[in-house]
Order: sequence, then structure tokens, then C-alpha cells
Amino acid sequence: MSDTRAHRRYRSQEWFDNPNNPGMTALYLERYQNQTFTRGELQSGRPIIGIANTGSDLAPCNKIHVFLMDRIKAGIRDAGGIPMEFPVHPIQETGKRPTAALDRNLAYLSLVEVLHGYPIDGVVLTTGCDKTTPAMLMGAATVDIPAIALNGGPMLDGWWQGRRAGSGTIIWESRRLLAEGKIDYEEFMDRACASAPSLGHCNTMGTASTMNALAEALGMTLPGSSAIPAPFRERMEMAFATGARAVGMVNEDLKPSRILTRAAFENAIRVNTAIGGSTNAPPHLQAIARHAGVSLDVTDWEVIGHALPLLVNMQPAGSYLGESFYRAGGVPAVMGELLAAGHLDGQAMTASGKPVSEALGSARSLDRDVIRPVDDPLRDNAGFLVLSGNLFDSALMKTSVISDDFRARFLKDGVFEARAVVFEGPEDYHNRINDASLGIDETSILFIRNVGCVGYPGSAEVVNMQPPDALIQAGIRHLPTVGDGRQSGTSESPSILNASPEAVVGGGLALLQTGDPVRLDLNAGTLDCTIAADEWRARRAAWTPPDLEHQTPWQEIYRTHVGQLAQGGCLELATAYQRIARVLPRD
Ligand code: FES
Ligand code: MG
Repeated sequence: MSDTRAHRRYRSQEWFDNPNNPGMTALYLERYQNQTFTRGELQSGRPIIGIANTGSDLAPCNKIHVFLMDRIKAGIRDAGGIPMEFPVHPIQETGKRPTAALDRNLAYLSLVEVLHGYPIDGVVLTTGCDKTTPAMLMGAATVDIPAIALNGGPMLDGWWQGRRAGSGTIIWESRRLLAEGKIDYEEFMDRACASAPSLGHCNTMGTASTMNALAEALGMTLPGSSAIPAPFRERMEMAFATGARAVGMVNEDLKPSRILTRAAFENAIRVNTAIGGSTNAPPHLQAIARHAGVSLDVTDWEVIGHALPLLVNMQPAGSYLGESFYRAGGVPAVMGELLAAGHLDGQAMTASGKPVSEALGSARSLDRDVIRPVDDPLRDNAGFLVLSGNLFDSALMKTSVISDDFRARFLKDGVFEARAVVFEGPEDYHNRINDASLGIDETSILFIRNVGCVGYPGSAEVVNMQPPDALIQAGIRHLPTVGDGRQSGTSESPSILNASPEAVVGGGLALLQTGDPVRLDLNAGTLDCTIAADEWRARRAAWTPPDLEHQTPWQEIYRTHVGQLAQGGCLELATAYQRIARVLPRD
């Protein structure tokens, strides 16, 4: 155990050991002593390490943290710190209506208040399910006290009839089989449950595994932390090591501002391409960058990330799941391959206290079928394209999931001239998709609007719309789809999504009508409605913003302050608050 008492005065001592204000000190001490802490401990001059617990019965993807808590606390104690666990507002991707995306900024706000207003010197951020990871990193960036992330790990691999059944991905596949009449409702449910065999988060390279891989790529975890499956012994060892490391970070004053640099974000974008990461990564990484005060633009995803290769053979872009990814070396192996090929900045600092190159050591792929080398990838130019045009200023397209069949059918020479079919939201889509009078065929592009941050509210994962049943039965499994919402990171649909600005704030999507001609040009990076310019201007002049109906107070607050997905979907006013731990709150 390292002796930390010789160190500078900790932030928490302003609460628990302040002779200048005995009245307040007494009030702080007596109530924290009535549980498990003694005055001796609280005045021992040791750092207090908060543990932000995102697990609960309402947050099953992160529930394992309830069981990891003992090991995190043991690690903190072993290194000379005092652990104090606290709950985080649940953000459960599949359980929260209308969408967990609405709650990312709420959990962020709440974490900022906790870290700022309580006697905490450093923090272990437990992460896992999609939005829990960005919410925790955004909060740590705003407050800027030493912080380290620990995810709960993916579930074990799911299996169905001898084949890997991946989180989410099996839902999209089964949804098509149901439409084709090949399975019934009972089998649909059985297939879905087969993908979730243990505690943990999604076992595909969906948003959860993506964001935790990016937390590691940013340097905010210990190396090798993110890919360990939830039930593995190594997960408990990592919990212990992470708790211990948090104490070291406090003593070294290693704060997020030294880790979350522009170089770290560029590394994360490159890793995202190599892992076939989720289309939710750009708004989340953008939000973390803005709260960290780092300038990052949505176009950086194409400039920095597009020309890189896909290395990780994991669903939805490939075939394996989390167990194989871990055994092949996980994120350090991916980063090791990228670093060896000159695609990473090895000098970026990490939570380990070492720069990336040192932290990685000699890590390389241990199974070249699961993690490919850079010179033999699964796919070249596998990053996102950032499109623009008269329908939006920016939208993303994930190229690593575009099948050869889809390319051949829709993207001859990268250009697709089509007829727009427009849905006003997911309810409208479900009600009308099989309506024959819409005339949806192979020359159609499906659009969905009013599903962005302000419109939904929160931005919904609904852009991966399935074609009408009749088209699926004729063998057309995907049509190009476009929208101002998002899609699940587990989807293999090559949608054009996160369109910003969204329709309800006056983005061009608002002016589109079913039957309009549209032109997608992947070479030029554009998608445009090609009706006459004066007709477009007339529609613009006639447009009025819709009335939005709020169901909760938070929905109204969120809609009043949220920005667009291209800028991270942040509470805009919150981005002005930077490194706020520099000033203590009043007694
Ligand atoms: Fe929570 Fe995927 S739904 S991790
Ligand atoms: Mg999701």
C-alpha cells in the first residue's frame, strides 16, 4: 500500500478536515460516520474515490457492476484510497421509452452535480450499455477530476441452432424471416433470447462494445479492459486493478484534460473504423470532445477514418462475437496492429500513466481470422462517409456494412437516382410500409423524419427501415434508407442517418415529399432532392415549425437546450462549463 499522506491537500479534505470551519466540518463528518466510515478514516488524508454505479435492476446490461463493486472497492482500499459508491440515473438502451438517448444528457448532468458537489477526489466510471459510456465520460470531462472507466464487459456469445446469435443482429435477421413467413412469433422470441445468455452488455460490435472500445482507445481505461466478457475471472481482476489505479491517478493528478486531447480523439476515430464501430459513435465522441474542450467536426470522421481498413471480424460487419474478439487480443491487439502500420498516435496519454505506445507494449492479433492485420483486412476504406446536400448539412453512412449485393443493385458507379417515399416517424412507417399504393420498389429510397434530438425527442434508432414484406419475399432485403434519427449499432443496414439539421428545426428533409426525385452520389458525397429550385424555395417559404408535445418536464428542458446530432446532441449551454473542479463549491 502506497502512503498517500505525504501528498498535497485533497479536495475532500475541504469537507472533512477544515479547521477554518469546524461547524460545517462537523456536519459533514457526523453524517458520513453514521454508516461505515470512521472519523479516523475520513480525516486520514487519504483520497476519496467515488464509484459511479450505472448498474441496477432497471439497467440489466450494467447489472454486473453491482457484483463488481466489491472488487473495485477492494482495489481502491488496497491502494490507499477510500471508496464511496453512488448510483447513476439508469440509461437502459432497450427498456427506456421513448429512447435512452433522451437520458444520456440527464445522467451527464446528474454526474456533473455529484462530482462537483460531493467530497470526491477521483472517480471510477462504470460503463457498458450504449449511452452509459458517453454520459460518464462527458461528465468526467466537464468536471475534470481524475477519472477512469471500467465497463461490465459483453455477454457470453449467444448461440441458436449451432450458429452465433448476436445481440440485436439476430433481431434484424429474425424480423426479416418473420416477414418472409419462415418463422413464427414463438421462434422469433426464442431466437432473440438466445442472444443474451449471461450478464453483460451486447455481444456484437454494437454501440456498447464500440463505445467501450473507444473509451479504451481514448485512454480512459486500463489497457485490455473493454473486451473482457462479463462473467470471466479477468473481469473481476480488471475491476480490482481499475479501482487501485484510480488512487494512483489522484496522486499523480492525472485528469481527463491530460488524456482527452485531440490526438486521443483521432486515435478513437481510427479504432472505430478498424472495429467496424457503430454509427452512434460520432455523436457520442463529438459530445465527449465538446465537453473536454477539444475541437472535433463531424467531417473528421471521413477525413481521418474513412480510408482505414476494417480489421475486426465481428457482427454486424463480420461473423464473430465478443468472446472471440477477447481471445484474439481485444482492443490492444487492434491498436497494436494500427500502431505498427503507422495509423495511431503512440504519444497520447492513457489512464495507466503511460502513453499509448508504452501501454500497448507488443500487443498484436492472436487470431488473424478474428482480428486481421492492416495489410490483409476484411474491407478497405471501411470508415464513415459524411454526406451533404439540400436535404441536410451532414449525414453519415457506414460503409463497412454495405454488402456486395447492395452495391451491385443500388450503387452502380456510386450513383443511385431514385424516388423518395417519406414517413413522418416510426408509427407512420409501421402503418404504411406495406401499403401497395405507395408503389415502393427497387427504385425507391425510404426516408424517415421527425426522429432527431428535438423531434422524437432524443433521436430514435429507427432509420434502418425494412422494405415492404412483398419486396423482401422477392429477395430485396435492404433498400437505401435516410433519416434524421439514428439506427442501432447492431444493424447491418447501410442507412444514411444522423441527418443534421433535423426536419423539425427546418432541415431540408422537412421539405421532401413522397414521389420527389432524389439523387445519391457517393463519389461526390451528396444526396439531393432534384426538383426545380423555385419549387424547393416555395416549399421553404411555406414551411412552419410543428408544435411539439412534451410528455415529461425533462423532455421540454431537453428540447429547449439540445443541439443537433452532428454537434453531439449536447445540452448546448453545458458545453460552456469546462474543468469546473478548479473552483470549489460553497460550503
Ligand atoms: Fe444495453 Fe446493448 S442494449 S448494451
Ligand atoms: Mg441501440
